[in-house]
Amino acid sequence: MKVTFSVIKADIGGYVGHSSMHPELKEVAKTSLEEAKKKGLLIDFCVLACGDDLELIMTHTKGVDNSEIHGLAWETFKKCTDKAKELKLYGAGQDLLSDAFSGNVKGMGPGVAEMEFEERKSEPVIVFMADKTSPGAWNMILYKIFADPFNTAGLVIDPSMHDGFKFEILDVYEHKVITFSMPEELYDMLVFIGAMEHFIIKRVYRKRDGEIAAVSSTEKLNFLAGKYVGKDDPVLVIRCQSGFPAVGEVLEPFAFPHMVAGWMRGSHHGPLMPVSFREANPSRFDGPPRVIGAGFQLADGKLIGPRDMFDDPSFDEARRMANVISDYIRRHGPFEPHRLPLEEMEYTTLPQVMERLKDRFQKA
Ligand code: F6R
Ligand code: MG
Ligand code: MG
Repeated sequence: MKVTFSVIKADIGGYVGHSSMHPELKEVAKTSLEEAKKKGLLIDFCVLACGDDLELIMTHTKGVDNSEIHGLAWETFKKCTDKAKELKLYGAGQDLLSDAFSGNVKGMGPGVAEMEFEERKSEPVIVFMADKTSPGAWNMILYKIFADPFNTAGLVIDPSMHDGFKFEILDVYEHKVITFSMPEELYDMLVFIGAMEHFIIKRVYRKRDGEIAAVSSTEKLNFLAGKYVGKDDPVLVIRCQSGFPAVGEVLEPFAFPHMVAGWMRGSHHGPLMPVSFREANPSRFDGPPRVIGAGFQLADGKLIGPRDMFDDPSFDEARRMANVISDYIRRHGPFEPHRLPLEEMEYTTLPQVMERLKDRFQKA
């Protein structure tokens, strides 16, 4: 059977500050999605949170970009916003940029990652959700999973993966996409995806049969609203096993807490720390950036799970390393490379400071 796997997320209010999700908001979301399930719109759903982001994981048969599913997510976020306002949570409704829903949540604030596929005999899927970072955070992860034989043994020894994968890359500034074929175009692709805030991996397909393997959310709130109104804490969906990378190959890149953008005020670099659901509450200097992994087995679209994939001592060392890196990079204070380059900062006083000091700049 063909199943659509939709993850739609938004920050609709933080508890306390931007650090976490109030449990009542999750309850409101669950009630809303339960009603939709009873009506037959959804096959199944799971509500999770990463930091201050509410994550709606839904399965159905309506296909991607469906207005009923997007409408349901929008209505759910609105109900949660009402609750967030009642509790005076921080930044209630911050990612709902418009008052009126027009058929698709894209461009309206929430982040979206959706894929439709024929459910296999056994279909393991992992959803990664991050807070205090941006979709570019997935670039190195996806590169390692689907193109690096030092990470993914299957690229070398599994005949069904040996042909490689195709990567669809989005240029977020020009709104253009380009597809690269791995491994033969590896060096060309790395020129682009190394620039994580400019070129973002949107989808990955298996080359042999074009089957979809991964999809990420790429909505950039800063460009959506014409200015930076909030970060685009991203989500990523990956299919695993039997011709796709094994679950362990998909998790392996997270053992290295690489540097990502988005810490404190969306304006600092920091290490991406893989944590259990319980530990996804970025608090130190509003961070460091966190990622959780929710694993599911699909059974005729039903979500068997979630399994908390980073609730495993084998990621303790990555967490420890992330803390050491945090201590190191924090000591840079307002200096790059801890602070982002001027043009990438979410908040900046530069125009005001420039305006005040412009007459004092003399020809050098
Ligand atoms: C939000 C975030 C935080 C905020 C910071 C200031 O996702 O990363 O670091 O940017 O707490 O928030 P405001 O400007 O709302 O006081
Ligand atoms: Mg927030
Ligand atoms: Mg957030």
